[in-house]
Amino acid sequence: MALIPDSFIQDLLNRVDIVDVVERYVPLKKAGQNYQACCPFHSEKTPSFTVSPIKQFYHCFGCGAHGTAISFLMEHSGMSFPDAVKDLASGVGMRLPSEEPTPADRKAAQQKAMVEALDLPAVMQLATRFYRSQLKSSTRAINYLKKRGLTGEVAARFGLGYAPDAWQSLESIFTDYPKNPALLESGLVIDNDSGRRYDRFRDRIMFPIVNQRGAIIGFGGRVLDSGEPKYLNSPETVLFEKGRELYGLYQARQAIRDAGKVIVVEGYMDVVSLAQFGVNYAVATLGTSTTPTHVQKLLRQTDRVVFCFDGDNAGRKAAWRALENALPFMQDGKALDFLFLPQDEDPDSYVRHFGKDRFEQLLSEDSVPLTGFLLSELASRVDMQSDSGRASLLHSAKPLLAQIAAPALNLMLRSRLAELVGVAQDELDRLFGIRKARSDKKMTAQPRTPRQPPSVTRQLLQWLLQYPQLATTLHLPESNQEEIAAISAVRQFCLDCDSAPSLGQIMESVRGTPAEQLVRQTARLLLEEAPVLSEEEAAQEMASLVERLQARLRSDQLEYLQRKAQQSGLTDEEKMQMLELLKR
Ligand code: UTP
Ligand code: MN
Repeated sequence: MALIPDSFIQDLLNRVDIVDVVERYVPLKKAGQNYQACCPFHSEKTPSFTVSPIKQFYHCFGCGAHGTAISFLMEHSGMSFPDAVKDLASGVGMRLPSEEPTPADRKAAQQKAMVEALDLPAVMQLATRFYRSQLKSSTRAINYLKKRGLTGEVAARFGLGYAPDAWQSLESIFTDYPKNPALLESGLVIDNDSGRRYDRFRDRIMFPIVNQRGAIIGFGGRVLDSGEPKYLNSPETVLFEKGRELYGLYQARQAIRDAGKVIVVEGYMDVVSLAQFGVNYAVATLGTSTTPTHVQKLLRQTDRVVFCFDGDNAGRKAAWRALENALPFMQDGKALDFLFLPQDEDPDSYVRHFGKDRFEQLLSEDSVPLTGFLLSELASRVDMQSDSGRASLLHSAKPLLAQIAAPALNLMLRSRLAELVGVAQDELDRLFGIRKARSDKKMTAQPRTPRQPPSVTRQLLQWLLQYPQLATTLHLPESNQEEIAAISAVRQFCLDCDSAPSLGQIMESVRGTPAEQLVRQTARLLLEEAPVLSEEEAAQEMASLVERLQARLRSDQLEYLQRKAQQSGLTDEEKMQMLELLKR
């Protein structure tokens, strides 16, 4: 492979998060600003392996292993440098400059080309307009929506339409209907075995599915009577991937922000009906269970997600699946709640029977937090009166808790769980393999060979690594001394970066240069015992270190000149310089 340009490596390290990379191989626990684990590079019982998301750097206080996301892959998985870079790059969608496109890249590019060439969004929009106009002229469809309590206004807001009861009604707007490839690719028509083409949606109320950018990507179609299937959905197409989309999210965005929460329901009609009654912050999954992508999408929009399910068995099952998919994405400060509706009600029927206020009252009074739902569900599966039942509860809770990275939430759950089964929390923690955080003092007090205080140059480099933005204020004396040259190289790299580089980026910039060794050692020092100073204090500290450095260089030079004077005599220029130095 051709040489990977440095700018690419820097760009890559900018996009990669070392925490994600390490986490693929080693389960990490948050500890203050950093993450911790038992070190994968040596055997230990208490975690001394630390990953710093701020510095984009890992370090083991036990064995001294340390480095960037790239070196982690190299050392942990034995990848070569180019392979590690390639691995990270593919994870963040970057392509190595000289690399051939992968089959997946090619497929994505083809799909994009197809969407553009066939102009699928325009086709979907035309179809939507057609279905809407058909609704206006179908009393049967209008009556159906009226019967379900919807006004024209809300029908218009969601772009509801009607697909006529005919085999080729789309022919009236697509003149090339029999051979237009876009109609097939968008899922609007079906070609049967004998090559005859017909409309997928016939005699159905049409619910357009809109993506987050407002483009129509699919439809759900409901029968007006009791035919099967009740809802027919667009197939997965290049535009439409069910597990990623949420019905109504586009329309609900502002209301979600205003309400500070989003309700996730099961059906199209639930969303539309809630909106009809003024609850505008509901979205629905599209006939699939809630996926991790859904959860991530929703938690990006708001801090509180309420899953609203039917109170029956199926509803609880669906809720549990949503919970399982959400656990890895939970963050402290985000809430996931579950609302189970009374028997035989769904959100649509409930809001129609009891109105907006009662629905919102139910939401605020009856929804249970994730912790409560998780524990009550697990408890309901065992006999809580027996020791074996409670043991089995602990057993089933353990893997679920292990997925929750949010520390406060995890703690709350453990404390509730301990209470529930009647054990002390530290016993439970021990059972779950959770260790008490060691105090910082103990961390640094580990026996280690006593070290010389860092040299002036190392201290200087240490500050620069910690505050790369101070590179502009650092004025190094000219010298060909190795350590000063190394600092100078780092300083130049910092100045060349558009924004302050991370420690990991600096490390990679010196890989294979004479500066590497010093930077590595200093970085390690930094992670072990970096003193805490504000940026301003650090700048002052650096200035005074530079003065000390200059003084030292002067005295070195003076010494050299004195020696030379005794041995072989000085040139005129050297004499002047010596006088100058002596004056100081
Ligand atoms: P439900 O059967 O609970 O219907 O399906 P609903 O939402 O109460 O609909 P109405 O009130 O009878 O009109 C919930 C969701 O499951 C998917 C749809 O997304 C539907 O909104 N579903 C259901 C299908 O995809 N196909 C079906 O045949 C049924
Ligand atoms: Mn319903």
